[in-house]
Amino acid sequence: MDSSRRQLLKGSVALAAAGIAAGFSPLREGVQASVESASSSANQTNEAIGRRRLGSLEVSSLGLGVQNMSRTYQTTIPHRPEMIDIIRTAFDRGVTFYDTAEAYGPHEVERILGEGVAPFRDQVVIASKFGWNIDLETGERQPGLNSRPEHIKLAVEGMLQRLRTDRIDLLYQHRVDPEVPIEDVAGAVQDLMDEGKVLHWGLSEMGLDTLRRAHAALPVAAVQNEYSMLWRGPEEEVIPLCAELGIGFVPWSPLGVQFLTGAIDENTRFAEGDIRKIEPRFSPENLPHNMALVQLVKDWAERKDATLAQIALSWLMAQAPWIVPIPGTTQMAHMLQNIGAEEVSFSADELQELNTALDQITIRGERLPPAVLAFSGVEAPLP
Ligand SMILES: NC(=O)c1ccc[n+]([C@@H]2O[C@H](COP(=O)([O-])OP(=O)(O)OC[C@H]3O[C@@H](n4cnc5c(N)ncnc54)[C@H](OP(=O)(O)O)[C@@H]3O)[C@@H](O)[C@H]2O)c1
Repeated sequence: MDSSRRQLLKGSVALAAAGIAAGFSPLREGVQASVESASSSANQTNEAIGRRRLGSLEVSSLGLGVQNMSRTYQTTIPHRPEMIDIIRTAFDRGVTFYDTAEAYGPHEVERILGEGVAPFRDQVVIASKFGWNIDLETGERQPGLNSRPEHIKLAVEGMLQRLRTDRIDLLYQHRVDPEVPIEDVAGAVQDLMDEGKVLHWGLSEMGLDTLRRAHAALPVAAVQNEYSMLWRGPEEEVIPLCAELGIGFVPWSPLGVQFLTGAIDENTRFAEGDIRKIEPRFSPENLPHNMALVQLVKDWAERKDATLAQIALSWLMAQAPWIVPIPGTTQMAHMLQNIGAEEVSFSADELQELNTALDQITIRGERLPPAVLAFSGVEAPLP
């Protein structure tokens, strides 16, 4: 372990311990962003943005989520050459962390990302995910999950082909399979690591005990959970556990699936097929109440001379130096705006003020429909 990482982990564990001892969450107490910007890798010739660590893995302090690059929430199909251009321009601007999954498309988004990063593949970190029950050949979705070790290994072979690479830098289990002990999953990932096909691993939306067991079986680099000003659930237990174990945290839907950008208002209605149509927090009954959060973000955007999306992202990055958001976009202008979030910073007092205001806003309605939420927080069976 290099000394900068040791310092960072020491800092986060101490921070968490201090918070627990004092009976408050360090995340809400104005921890100023201390972006680990010093250590850009030597082969990095592109315009540098900061670097952060997820466990032992170094990434840009903001990543790019490419989930929608084969669709949008509005069900139109993005222009593929433009998606490639966004991926490459992001790299030119310093992004080295790309987040995909076999489930996106399914399969198609990995192909788009593989083509996009091909010219500079060795300089970036590719994260992908297995775990949904997806036909290995056709990409057809079947019901439920599949983390059986032999299936994981075949799924990774497919990923390597689609991503045009010989290794996945960060491989997540997308959701915990209630049929498969996490130790067996770790064993499969370890085998893939032994072959050099996987470099780091992570979990997404797992139960807490499962995370502990997974980390004991094979050190986990990162947890990927929904986290934003709109959904702060991970602050209670998941993020403190990551701090305790020295695991990085990657917030998915960091822009609150667009809510925090100001693009949604109380009159917004979502198209058929857009998951937000069935998310209770965006129902016609709950939206007007929840707009109080957008107003708060707007006020801060004005105050900091930033956009709403930049406030949402910089707030996340200010929570801990090992938090790396992966905003998703299919628009060049949005990608460029989002990476500008790194230039927005909060003083400890400002962060405290913002967090106090946030604490006073209650979001009405669950974050996901019950059938989807049922896959979160699941514990894997014991071996
Ligand atoms: N592990 C998991 O289970 C899981 C679940 C969901 C997502 N993810 C990952 O997280 C990534 C991001 O999540 P997400 O895409 O669901 O949500 P998000 O990043 O919170 O929001 C994406 C939405 O915001 C819009 N947007 C982005 N930047 C904007 C800007 N500056 N101004 C206005 N609108 C903007 C996008 O539309 P445009 O395309 O028009 O910009 C899109 O509608 C995904 O790509 C995926 O990699 C993981």
